[in-house]
Amino acid sequence: MKAVVWHGIGDIRLDEVADPTIVDPTDAVVRITRSAICGTDLHFVRGTMAPMAEGTILGHEAVGIVTAVGDDVRGFSAGDRVVINSTVSCGTCRYCRQGQTAQCDVANPNGPDAGTCFFGGPASTGPVNGLQAEQVRVPFAQNTMHRLPDTVSDEQAILLSDIFPTGWFGAELAGVTRGDVVAVFGAGVVGQFAIASAFKQGASRVIVVDREETRLAQALAQNAEIVNFDEEDPVETIARLTGGAGVDAVIDAVGVDAQHASHGPAAPDPDTAAEFAAEVEQVAPDANPQGDQWVPGNAPTQALRWAVEVVAKYGRIGVIGVYSPTVTSFPFGEAMLKNLTIRMGNCDHHSVTPPLIDLVASGQFDPTAFITEHEGIGSAIEAYEAFDRREPGWTKVEVVPG
Ligand SMILES: NC(=O)c1ccc[n+]([C@@H]2O[C@H](COP(=O)([O-])OP(=O)(O)OC[C@H]3O[C@@H](n4cnc5c(N)ncnc54)[C@H](O)[C@@H]3O)[C@@H](O)[C@H]2O)c1
Ligand SMILES: [Zn+2]
Ligand SMILES: [Zn+2]
Repeated sequence: MKAVVWHGIGDIRLDEVADPTIVDPTDAVVRITRSAICGTDLHFVRGTMAPMAEGTILGHEAVGIVTAVGDDVRGFSAGDRVVINSTVSCGTCRYCRQGQTAQCDVANPNGPDAGTCFFGGPASTGPVNGLQAEQVRVPFAQNTMHRLPDTVSDEQAILLSDIFPTGWFGAELAGVTRGDVVAVFGAGVVGQFAIASAFKQGASRVIVVDREETRLAQALAQNAEIVNFDEEDPVETIARLTGGAGVDAVIDAVGVDAQHASHGPAAPDPDTAAEFAAEVEQVAPDANPQGDQWVPGNAPTQALRWAVEVVAKYGRIGVIGVYSPTVTSFPFGEAMLKNLTIRMGNCDHHSVTPPLIDLVASGQFDPTAFITEHEGIGSAIEAYEAFDRREPGWTKVEVVPG
């Protein structure tokens, strides 16, 4: 079968690989009908996350049809149409029983303290072969998939694999409640779903910060208030827009590939620029940029620094943008000074997703407008390249095998 395979930083290829099979009795095999490329995948190709094992299939977002189940998968059978959670979880450990499935004690073969196990991630997350392929082996399938009702199309369901649950989880981490004024950093597709989720959880206003015009336009279409950080200083502007108080809650939907302003009043002074350069050196020592392709973000902690500055005293910050363990700087003292609450992490997909499937099935929310590009798996590498360069309009790419 065909699959997108990680060979090295700056080196991904469409390869012919062996079909997956049932290995453990808790496995299923799924024929993929839709997969997608995520901002998380870009971190691996830009070299801003821990390295992947060469040969690992990329991708952690997919919808498909079950073709086989192991003996201990009792809730699914061949022919079921499912959405696959990005993160793998066992369903039996203490964390899974609390709904904290991103910290499952069992799924990650590197042990209970190794962090989240997910498809198509670094060696430290499994590794588990990913979902940008024609078929996939799903470990702990009983907990790692959800059956889809007929009223939810594949096209709607692909964003239930990771993006909608993560946006929803981000608003929950930020403690969004009725009346809140919320800032969202990053207007990529995760930011877009953080905006939608913040409104659905009661936010009265959402202010979104990015610099990509087509993405800001998508946020505006959701009734968010937009700030372009290359034109204005988001800290000053958000202070003004909130009567000097700051926002109640912030969602960071940027992560480790954050950029600083390239010009305008928010561009860093020489000392801050030097700090950012040192961070990049620490975070992405093996980066392998090729011209304007696979370039790591030039300011890994920029979104976090702005988050601490724009939030009100006693404010809350929810971090869903991904940071690797090599990120070690954070404005801790400034956060202390303001009595902030900061929560973070990978989404608990298994427990977050079911009510969101219902929300889509009932017609209350249609995620399809956020998929801007539809590509066959044959053009997956070119699609990665365009998404990496943030070409106008390339907010979310769905990849259709076959
Ligand atoms: N926690 C989770 O479970 C989880 C799940 C999915 C994705 N993620 C993470 O969410 C983040 C966003 O994913 P995506 O697919 O939307 O990525 P993306 O790369 O498409 O979007 C990131 C956006 O951030 C913007 N940006 C860069 N620097 C900024 C800054 N300083 N301030 C404001 N905006 C800035 C970029 O212009 C871009 O539009 C990534 O870090 C991804 O790894 C986390
Ligand atoms: Zn994703
Ligand atoms: Zn578990």
